[in-house]
Amino acid sequence: MRNWSGYQTAKRDLIRSLSGTVLEIGAGSGANFADLPGTIEWIGLEPHRRARAQLVRTAAGRRVLAAGAEQIPLPEASVDGVLSTVVLCSVADLPATLVELRRVLRPGGRFVFVEHVAAPRGTWTYRLQRLAAPFTRRFDRGCNPARDIAAAIEAAGFTTIELDHYTMPGLIPIPFIAGAATR
Ligand SMILES: C[S@@+](CC[C@H](N)C(=O)[O-])C[C@H]1O[C@@H](n2cnc3c(N)ncnc32)[C@H](O)[C@@H]1O
Repeated sequence: MRNWSGYQTAKRDLIRSLSGTVLEIGAGSGANFADLPGTIEWIGLEPHRRARAQLVRTAAGRRVLAAGAEQIPLPEASVDGVLSTVVLCSVADLPATLVELRRVLRPGGRFVFVEHVAAPRGTWTYRLQRLAAPFTRRFDRGCNPARDIAAAIEAAGFTTIELDHYTMPGLIPIPFIAGAATR
């Protein structure tokens, strides 16, 4: 478990490690632009109309795809990197999404992820996450806070995975993972 004070630096370093053509899924309003290397060819993907309208403005002429990450309108092995920051909690089908991310990545390409995840089973945080899930799924764009995203990434067939665990302190401490997987 890493100290929360290192989380922002780790996130920024992971985003800066991307190169070549990079697909950012669930890019929202484009909050990661500040950290994305200026040398990459960025493609954004955002299914929600209002967020996408904002993203198109922030993206200033870069390509923005109107689609969910479960079905990415890009050919196989067409990108060098995929970026996901707090998106995998919200996708409708997590295993299908991970299959899609691997499909569009070239062999050796990097999938960089920073995600809030389920607390260990049996903890109070996990129980609260389970209780909150029906509400957050309904009112927070499908977000399921009780997803074991690390286990899903591990099961998705990547060649290597490196990740660190963080906990955002608070009344209800929220666990995060940050890392990269190689196709
Ligand atoms: C919490 S926001 C994070 C936005 C951005 N990645 C960031 O870090 O600021 C989650 C984003 O995932 C998007 N999203 C929801 N379902 C999705 C799906 N099936 N495929 C791709 N993105 C999705 C939402 O529209 C939203 O923009």
